[in-house]
Amino acid sequence: MHTSNILNGHSILVVGSSEGIGREAALTYARAGAKLMILARNTSALEQLKRQIIAEGLCSPRIFQFDLESKNEDDYRQLAQHVEAESHTLDGALLNASLLGARTTLADYPWDTWQQVMQVNVNAQFLLVKHLLPLLQRSSTDASLILTTSSVGRQGRAEWGAYSVSKFATEALMQICAQELGENSPVRINCINPGGTRTAMRAAAYPEEDPSSVRTPADIMDLYLHLMSPESSDVRGQSIDAQNWNRQKA
Ligand SMILES: NC(=O)c1ccc[n+]([C@@H]2O[C@H](COP(=O)([O-])OP(=O)(O)OC[C@H]3O[C@@H](n4cnc5c(N)ncnc54)[C@H](OP(=O)(O)O)[C@@H]3O)[C@@H](O)[C@H]2O)c1
Repeated sequence: MHTSNILNGHSILVVGSSEGIGREAALTYARAGAKLMILARNTSALEQLKRQIIAEGLCSPRIFQFDLESKNEDDYRQLAQHVEAESHTLDGALLNASLLGARTTLADYPWDTWQQVMQVNVNAQFLLVKHLLPLLQRSSTDASLILTTSSVGRQGRAEWGAYSVSKFATEALMQICAQELGENSPVRINCINPGGTRTAMRAAAYPEEDPSSVRTPADIMDLYLHLMSPESSDVRGQSIDAQNWNRQKA
């Protein structure tokens, strides 16, 4: 467990925090002193996370039930307004939600699944970046925006279809945004590649794998905390692997 108060007073939004890596990141940020906003579709899972965070004597997170797939740009604009109403500014956002889609060849890839994955993993990420950036730019601390990539977003792999293409797009979105922000912006943007991590998505991608053979979300939180905290204020435009990352290497 992280006990330092390195995020004390920081307002942080975790998109895709009802389970898996995003849930663990939300807990990690709350334990480091952040004021949290948590977003996903599954309200009862978000309520359960909220109860856990309150029971630990931390903050009382604001829940946003929001389906990244079905919303239009106005909904994203309104989401940013709700975030602003909740916390005035935003000091950090982790964009973690994604869909795996189908594990099949391009020849067999269903068009509706392709569009669904692109909507959640690409279009929604663009709209979140576009509408959250103005809030992050008003932060009184150096704000951090973190996108979530994958190894198949750097090297294409057979039968990873839309997911792989969407993660290449995530890397590009991060690089474009980092260049547009420049070296002197108070906002920095980076990608994290979690690597194989014990979650529902991993189990769906590798049904034959023994889940105990891969790391848990809690095992990879050092990088998630570092990139969100002032420790990393000079890190920008990077795509970093969380597995085996440690402060000494930073
Ligand atoms: N696990 C791995 O081995 C691994 C490896 C490389 C990269 N990654 C990346 O790491 C991130 C987290 O992965 P994970 O394994 O923790 O995934 P997960 O267990 O499937 O969790 C995904 C999260 O995204 C949310 N989400 C999905 N669709 C959504 C939608 N339409 N609207 C709002 N929220 C939505 C889910 O919440 P609801 O269902 O409640 O909406 C959930 O909180 C993803 O970006 C993934 O691509 C994971």
